[in-house]
Amino acid sequence: MSGLGDIVLETRGLSVNFGGLRAVDNVDIKVARGGITSIIGPNGAGKSTFYNLVTGAIRPTAGQVYLEGREITGTPTNRLAAMGLSRSFQITNLFPASTVFENLRLAAHALEPMSLSLLPVRRAKRAEEKAVALIERFGLAARATELAGHLSHGEQRRLEIAVALACEPRLLILDEPTQGMSHTDTEEASQMVRDLSKEITIVLIEHDLDLVMDLSHTVVVLHQGRKLAEGPPAVVRANKDVQTAYFGAH
Ligand SMILES: Nc1ncnc2c1ncn2[C@@H]1O[C@H](COP(=O)(O)OP(=O)(O)O)[C@@H](O)[C@H]1O
Ligand SMILES: [Mg+2]
Repeated sequence: MSGLGDIVLETRGLSVNFGGLRAVDNVDIKVARGGITSIIGPNGAGKSTFYNLVTGAIRPTAGQVYLEGREITGTPTNRLAAMGLSRSFQITNLFPASTVFENLRLAAHALEPMSLSLLPVRRAKRAEEKAVALIERFGLAARATELAGHLSHGEQRRLEIAVALACEPRLLILDEPTQGMSHTDTEEASQMVRDLSKEITIVLIEHDLDLVMDLSHTVVVLHQGRKLAEGPPAVVRANKDVQTAYFGAH
């Protein structure tokens, strides 16, 4: 789908209450196709809750979510992959005791038509073909039957990218993908996100302001569940309200 502004993800009035706490409060966001849009905010801002609402892990108290113009509010996570939304970035989520081929075939399973997706994974034809194509593309042909856990560091990184692309998502949404990583791994993962963004639209949910500065074309700031600011990274960082939210009132 393209044209008409080509908005990949939109939320309207998205809200959720946890008891007396409104963790996400009337959030309107539009994500245009292409590149990386980052959603940032200090701890407790509601970022992960927003992520959980969009990816169907929890249902909103009010508001709607649209994927490519189609309402997906409350659609369960496992159905969203087939609709073009991939939520996981398998940075550390390879199955180390499964082969390269198995990792990819499993990830590609969402490509099967609905009725067929109920079949056992090993009978799924399209997933198998996708796995083979990705193995070729990412230079893993000689390693196809090797266990993922036995790959070199570089090979694992390539496999991770291939896994993220396996279900042919049009939107990839990531919640703090580099959390807990070393400096080197963070750099490498950032590069991976950058590479992936040439193919698919990415929504990057991130706490670290500096990390998103040179990655994203648009930054949205959440604070206390509400949208506080939105715009190009440099403009957002210079915003007084954003400074206060991040660094306090001084
Ligand atoms: N399942 C839940 N039940 C109750 N409160 C929650 C739940 N999940 C998150 N919260 C609260 O909602 C607020 C936002 O949390 P979260 O979305 O995890 O923030 P962030 O990811 O920006 O750090 C926090 O105050 C948190 O304690
Ligand atoms: Mg979080």
